[in-house]
Amino acid sequence: MSTQNSAPAFIQAEALAALLTSAAGRVDVHVLPECDSTNLQLLQMAKAGAPSGTLLLAERQTAGRGRRGRSWFQGQNSLAFSLLWRLPEQRSASGLSLAVGVALAEALDPQTQLKWPNDVLLDGRKVAGILIESAGPQCFVIGIGINLGAMDDLPQELTAQATGITTHLSPVAALAKVLDALIAALDLFAAQGFIALQTRWQQRHAYQDLAVNLFFSEGSEPVQGVCRGVDQNGELLLETATCLQTISSGEVSLRLQ
Ligand code: BTN
Repeated sequence: MSTQNSAPAFIQAEALAALLTSAAGRVDVHVLPECDSTNLQLLQMAKAGAPSGTLLLAERQTAGRGRRGRSWFQGQNSLAFSLLWRLPEQRSASGLSLAVGVALAEALDPQTQLKWPNDVLLDGRKVAGILIESAGPQCFVIGIGINLGAMDDLPQELTAQATGITTHLSPVAALAKVLDALIAALDLFAAQGFIALQTRWQQRHAYQDLAVNLFFSEGSEPVQGVCRGVDQNGELLLETATCLQTISSGEVSLRLQ
């Protein structure tokens, strides 16, 4: 583990190492006091040859990236990090972000639910987000933002959509729990694909059998249907008036009717 600031590191290497189980020896953690986006920085590190398992964590991001071209708000009680991960040659990445969602949801709070494709919710509000970007063939930057505890600094316009977990984990304890769960889920995914995590995703599905509007782009006419869960590739099953559709693009927005 390395830190690039002279101030005490937000996450201490020894404290983290002492807590890791499945992830022990599998991740190489770098901590920055500040960067634009850990995804962006790790994509550059990947280009420069960083190995699978490289993890970049920033205490602050000045340009955190969210899904669908949005920005990501990182509060004082948030964790933001990205993990570089390589999948075996024969393994399709389909369902990868859902597998990561399962790991986060299970590690963070027993009450969490999942909204397709990979938002982690508590009482209907988001506590963690995932942005996976390609860093080359079979190589991915898995970006994760987690709201830990009180989110007093959340901008007014986000308070209806976002909240923090209530399990009172310290940043280092939360990171260790998440990394252990994440590495275990990624190992399972590498060996068997999303099918090995499908039931666990399904058990936490926030919108199971609920009527939703699905938007393919901002302001577009919604497709209306009832969420019937996910298939073995992680695709959303949406029952419309005419058929059972499978939705594969994660770049959609899903809202309860
Ligand atoms: C989402 O929109 O739900 C995805 C949010 C992902 C945010 C994380 S924070 C760490 C990593 N670096 C980024 O710039 N984005 C991801």
